[in-house]
Amino acid sequence: MNNLFSLKDQTILLTGSLGLIGKEITKSLYEFGANLILTDIHDEDFYIKNYEQKIKSLRINDNQKILYKQADITSIESIAELIDFSEKRFNRIDTLINLAGTDAKIDEELNINLDSFENFPIDLWEKSIDININGVFKITQSVSKHMKKHKSGNIILTASTYSLVSPNHNLYNNTNSSTRISKPIDYVASKSIIPNYTRYLATHLSKNGIRANYVVPHGVENKNPQWFKDNFSKLSPLSRMCNVNELCGPYVFLASKASSYMNGASIVVDGGWTAW
Ligand SMILES: NC(=O)c1ccc[n+]([C@@H]2O[C@H](COP(=O)([O-])OP(=O)(O)OC[C@H]3O[C@@H](n4cnc5c(N)ncnc54)[C@H](O)[C@@H]3O)[C@@H](O)[C@H]2O)c1
Repeated sequence: MNNLFSLKDQTILLTGSLGLIGKEITKSLYEFGANLILTDIHDEDFYIKNYEQKIKSLRINDNQKILYKQADITSIESIAELIDFSEKRFNRIDTLINLAGTDAKIDEELNINLDSFENFPIDLWEKSIDININGVFKITQSVSKHMKKHKSGNIILTASTYSLVSPNHNLYNNTNSSTRISKPIDYVASKSIIPNYTRYLATHLSKNGIRANYVVPHGVENKNPQWFKDNFSKLSPLSRMCNVNELCGPYVFLASKASSYMNGASIVVDGGWTAW
């Protein structure tokens, strides 16, 4: 039977592949038949030590390949090496999935209140802009040139609910513990470009056979403290956080022929957070 969701004979380049979401969707993209070029800022030794065995255990046939190549999405030279590597190994990149990103974490040692807009550190702001905006621009620009040569391509970006709405203070409200969690301005501002950036790609690259769409994840559970999960549940229409495997379907769908008429669109996977 013709499987609409099959990724057989496709080569997918996945940035941020060693992160929380990247590790999970790698398994599904592989199960649906894709060849994968995994990339992240960590070097090959780190990959071999921490991930290679797990990746090898996914193998179900010898024709399908998963390769790892270190690359920094903020460096044009590093991206050029990644594309050269991909062309030599697979000839072409059919789909680019952008997951690489950063957000300022709580810095307990510095004791910086990242929630304070007035005092938000400029260096953390610049770091987020460099990765979440400049890096995403550099990797999509370079890969789209490669795709243009082949007259086809598929670009999937990753936004956030904070590309659509502001963080709700009630989620981060915790009076019983000294642990502070926040979603500060660097993340909100830098992720906000994704929706309209994607629309620009969708409308300007489609004449070259390239389409672009984005996924909007929200609240993926990852060893969060109980008070945070409780706050989240009260605010979420589904009354819970997202299991990371609930993102596999949307990425597989956007990478597959099943979504061939989608262009410049989003898949919001937020349990209804932005539907209130
Ligand atoms: N986890 C969530 O709840 C959530 C919610 C909404 C949106 N998102 C978005 O989804 C994407 C993936 O999130 P995640 O939770 O897996 O994050 P993560 O931090 O676990 O993974 C991000 C990966 O990007 C890599 N990276 C950072 N800077 C890089 C650079 N300069 N070059 C190459 N790689 C670099 C990191 O090494 C890391 O492996 C991010 O864009 C994030 O903004 C996540």
